[in-house]
Formats: sequence, C-alpha cells, structure tokens
Amino acid sequence: VISRSQLRRLATPATALLPIRIFFGATFLWAGIDKLLDPAFLDPAAPTSLHAQLVAFSRVSPLSGLIGLVLPITPVIGALIAVGEIGIGIGALSGLAFRVAAAGGAALSALLWLTASWGTHPYYLGADLPYAIGWIALLIGGPGDRYVPSRWRMPETAPAEPGAAANTTHGRRGGRDGGRRRDRGRRPPPRVEAASPERRLVLQAATLAAISAVVASLAPMLRAWGVVTGEGARAHDLGGGSPGPTTAPATRPPSTIPPGAIAVSTVAAVSSRGSASFTVPFNAPAPLPAGDPGVIVQLADGSFVAFDAVCTHAGCTVEWDRRDRLLFCPCHDAIFDAEHGAAVLDGPAPTPLASLPIVVDEASGRILLNPAG
Ligand code: FES
Repeated sequence: VISRSQLRRLATPATALLPIRIFFGATFLWAGIDKLLDPAFLDPAAPTSLHAQLVAFSRVSPLSGLIGLVLPITPVIGALIAVGEIGIGIGALSGLAFRVAAAGGAALSALLWLTASWGTHPYYLGADLPYAIGWIALLIGGPGDRYVPSRWRMPETAPAEPGAAANTTHGRRGGRDGGRRRDRGRRPPPRVEAASPERRLVLQAATLAAISAVVASLAPMLRAWGVVTGEGARAHDLGGGSPGPTTAPATRPPSTIPPGAIAVSTVAAVSSRGSASFTVPFNAPAPLPAGDPGVIVQLADGSFVAFDAVCTHAGCTVEWDRRDRLLFCPCHDAIFDAEHGAAVLDGPAPTPLASLPIVVDEASGRILLNPAG
C-alpha cells in the first residue's frame, strides 16, 4: 500500500519521469552499441546497411534531398548516429549533461520519424514519434536532484534556498510544502559553483562525448572476439562465423551462382518464417530496383519467389502475413497473392507486385538476386 506522502513523492516530475528516463536511456545505449556490433550496418554494400535503408527511406521521406547529400558518407553518418545514441543513453541514465542528452534524443528521434517512420501509416504505429515526444518531456522536466551525482548537478537543479525564484521546479515544490522547505533550509548550503552554468554545461557535454567515444571504441574489440549482432550474428548462426564439426563434410551440389548475382537471404532464413525481407542493394545493376525493399516467399510447393515489396498503389512496403500466407499492405489494405505472381486479391493496388529474379544456390544455401534473370 502506498501512502499519500509516498504517492506525492512519486508524482514529482523527476520521479514520475524516471521510468521513461531509464527505458529511453537503456534503449538508446543498447541501440548505439548494437549498431556498432553489427558488421552490416556500416557496410554500404550490405543489404541491411544504413546506406541501403536510407536509399529506401528517400523514396517516401520529406528529407529525401538531405538523404541524397549524406549518401556518399553513410559510414561516417552511421558511426555518428551510433556514438550519439550511446552518449544520449549514458546522459539520460547518469544525469551527465542530461538536457543535452535529452535534446539529442529528441532531435535524433524526430529525424528518424521523418525518415524511417515516415512511410508508416497510421502515424501512431511508428515508434520514433513517441520517442521524440518522450525526449521532449525529459528535456522539459529535467533530471531532478535525486538521481544525479551531486557533482553533475547543474545550478538549476541544486536545492533551492528559501525564497528563491518560484518559477523553478524546486521553488514551486517548496512553496506548496512548507515542511519540506524547512527541511531543505537545514541542509548545508549549496556548494558555490566556481564555473558558470554555461561552462559547466560545455564541460559536462565534453565529458559525456569522451565517455561515449570510449564506450564506442570497445565495439571493434568485442567484434574481434566474435560478439556480433544483426546480419553478422545471423551469418554466424548459419555457420558463416566458425568452422563446423570436423567430421567429413557432406557432399554438396556444385555451385550454381550466375555471375553478378547478389546474395540477399538464405534458404534457412526464409524456410523458418515462410518469408524474408531484404533491401535491393543500392549498387544493384538495372533492371533490379536499387534500394527498394524486397520480400522472398517460400511457396506451398517449396519453391521460392521474390517480389519488390513496394506497393503498387502508393508505395508503402508490403508485409508477409504468415497466417494467411498473403502479402499485405498496411497503408490501404491491399492484398497480394504470392502463390499467383503477387496478383491483387483486394484493395486499391492497380497491379501485382513486380517480380524479382532470384536463384537458389543449393551448394551454399543462399538466395541471390540475378540481374541477368
Ligand atoms: S499503398 Fe498499399 S494499398 Fe495503398
């Protein structure tokens, strides 16, 4: 049972925002590390790289001009995003340069909303806009004075003296709660800050940046030790990362890979879920639709087909409905039948999805786009 006074304490802004602060901080910290542990993220040639994602986002994003400008330097942009997320996460969790971290979180989430989530309809199904709003709430609310090491508290979060300006969080709280203000009055006086608030903020931001860089620099070492995530981890799971058992290898059929073919998935990955999504690499030759999202489906007879996942109605990305074994567009409910060449079964789409030529290399278990197909 929570008492009234406990409930009042929980309702103070800093405490009430604590669950968001912890969740956002931990999530951004992990998101940054996860990107650096994924060998595919910074590799422009990988189908799941940031580069490939940006090419796909540029089709629908209002920032397509900006995306075009940064495409030549996506590894740098990706590294900055990853280190930035690490810094934002650490700042939110620790309180170091808290509002700088919260502002960074809001800006980055807004950027992701305008790119990665822009094609998501309705808007509330995308995650980035709620993140941006949550970061803005943390930016406004601040860290409070209880969850930040005393050395890192900014002057505005130091305990307010009796009679201090009433437009601060602590001033308002003191005004409503005379007993607590009297308690505060008995505390030792606040430390005299030698540095100006601006200087302290710059120093804290620089310290946060340095800590973030140190944390990020651990990623290459972890990857060297085999700690990988994303596509790299999946490749490892599929046997790409370590030699297999030392028993005699099974006889494999000869490779059937045509020249120029581009690996986009594996038989194992598609078979386990009935389909697999991929991005046509940005450097794929015509007639392949470079940068488009694609989907591979295993048909009832066990064969594989691939389609451009851009809906022929208004360009949203179609998804595989595993239960009904149909391709479904979340924007206006178009339905495509993978078993019959992605023919339109329902909805406003005027034509079937475009087929993509693939080959299945039984020797390696890979599924490849075949530009010559
Ligand atoms: S964009 Fe797919 S149905 Fe409208």
